[in-house]
Amino acid sequence: MAAQRLVPVVETSNIVKDGGRNSLSWNEAKKRFKGFSENKVNMAYECVDRHVEEGRGQKTALHYLNEGKEQKISYDELKQRTDQLAAVLKKHGVKKGDFVFVFLPKHPDCHIAMLAAIKLGAVVGPLFEAFMSDAVRDRIGDCQGEYLITDRELLQRVPREDLPSLHTVFLTDGSGQNGEISLPEALSETLDEEFVLEWVDAEHGLNIHYTSGSTGKPKGIIHAHRAMVHQYQTGRWVLDLNEDDVYWCTAHPGWVTGTVYGVFAPLLNGVTVVVHGGRFSAEQWYHTLETAGVTVWYSAPTAFRMLKSEGDDLPGQYDLSKLRHILSVGEPLNPEVIYWGAETLKHRIHDTWWMTETGAQLIVNLPSETIKPGSMGRPFPGITAAVLDDNGVEQPRGTIGHLAVKAPWPGIMKEVWKNEAKYNSYFPYEGWYVSGDLAVMDEEGYLFFQGRSDDMINSSGERIGPFEVESKLIEHPAVAEAGVIGKPDPIRGEIVKAFVVLKKGYTETPELKEAVRKFVRGELAAHAAPREIEIVAELPKTKISGKILRRELKARELEKLGAGA
Ligand code: WT7
Repeated sequence: MAAQRLVPVVETSNIVKDGGRNSLSWNEAKKRFKGFSENKVNMAYECVDRHVEEGRGQKTALHYLNEGKEQKISYDELKQRTDQLAAVLKKHGVKKGDFVFVFLPKHPDCHIAMLAAIKLGAVVGPLFEAFMSDAVRDRIGDCQGEYLITDRELLQRVPREDLPSLHTVFLTDGSGQNGEISLPEALSETLDEEFVLEWVDAEHGLNIHYTSGSTGKPKGIIHAHRAMVHQYQTGRWVLDLNEDDVYWCTAHPGWVTGTVYGVFAPLLNGVTVVVHGGRFSAEQWYHTLETAGVTVWYSAPTAFRMLKSEGDDLPGQYDLSKLRHILSVGEPLNPEVIYWGAETLKHRIHDTWWMTETGAQLIVNLPSETIKPGSMGRPFPGITAAVLDDNGVEQPRGTIGHLAVKAPWPGIMKEVWKNEAKYNSYFPYEGWYVSGDLAVMDEEGYLFFQGRSDDMINSSGERIGPFEVESKLIEHPAVAEAGVIGKPDPIRGEIVKAFVVLKKGYTETPELKEAVRKFVRGELAAHAAPREIEIVAELPKTKISGKILRRELKARELEKLGAGA
């Protein structure tokens, strides 16, 4: 294995220093957090205030870069700004247990808003910055959300007329037409630094992320403050974070990766967090790695494949000498990408597997252990994973089955909002959380991803429910029926492909297809819009219930691809 010869395992990593994979006990790990045993904890306290109290206030907490603009915020300043904002939110009625949605671009304001809400014991709902009005309405509406922190530009995508519960909206950049509160103004009036932080119990709601499955609207997954134990520990052992690290996670907090490993885990570990604003560009990304002096970098296969497609000369034009540890999540990491990383970036890329529901990494490649290209790694210490058959019985090694994890563990979701049946559906067999992924485990316990057992689509690491896209498609006046699948794609892993039956009187034209695509893009979100639309005369359906057979559509598509290859 060329890649492994090129880059050996890291013997000096935290896990080795701390005593190795067998040294972990979750009960011991909890002891880092003083209030745990009395059920008086707060994630934002552990992410911010604690570092100030322990004398690390001068250190840079957030380093923002966006096309030449730069801003550094120390832990002292982060404490002051989150305290002040929390005081403003409190003054306007935010209290323990309320939902506070945050709809902001990748910017320190987004981190500050989230942490301020958490200081009050509110449940924070970060929304992805590319969401359009339907996606925003579904999420805030489902929670009957009362509070939102956004900016003037994104406010245009908040359909306030459809959200009667949303009585208070804060803007980070001025006031609005409908009584929206200007935060710069409100903050300038709040000079007193009253201590407003609320202690909560470990089981208290922390954040909510909506995620898709194969049926229905996205579901709200709620996590608890206790997740800090798992998030801190994986930050220390998997991300291998030390206080002098400069760490960059490329995901937006609207995705669980961006919240857990872009905000919580790194701040719990007291590192400098790089916040890169703006869109993807290979030059900008390498520039950020160089300028910020990134040492640890967490990104996704699609991003690595996009960098790889720009050619191998580009990275050589930047000084990436500070970079020492690279990780990946969200979709299968192809062996070719690992080889590219070893040759071009001179580092191993460590794959990690987890889900919105799991709250933190579960299957990982530790810096101190051998990587098998094509494998997601092995269970994190303290985690037991297995491959089960359809009856919940453990499969022999080498046999495909349902990837399952012994429940509970510290990061696991607390509930599915207003949907107990959905929550219970993750636990069909006593004691096991069943992921919906199919996998194979080898003799040494390494897990290999084999696809999904349902119709969920994963495009560029973003989880997309076909039902949501189909529902939007049939709202278009020309569309009678729609079936949506994930079609394999060399860069994005999968793309969203729609099979559409047109209503009578409509004929297929490139313009019509483009109009349908734009319709989904404009109302739902860019990542959910079908990149490919195929007009068909009819859709395959089940005989009895008449449900669209997505599997059949997918099988046909794969066959076509196979025939063309
Ligand atoms: C689904 C979860 C929270 C992580 C980001 C995505 C797929 C995730 C891997 C990986 C192959 C992966 C699975 C999983 N997935 N990581 N390393 N290799 N597939 O979270 O949006 O909740 O999606 O992403 O299918 O079930 P998510």
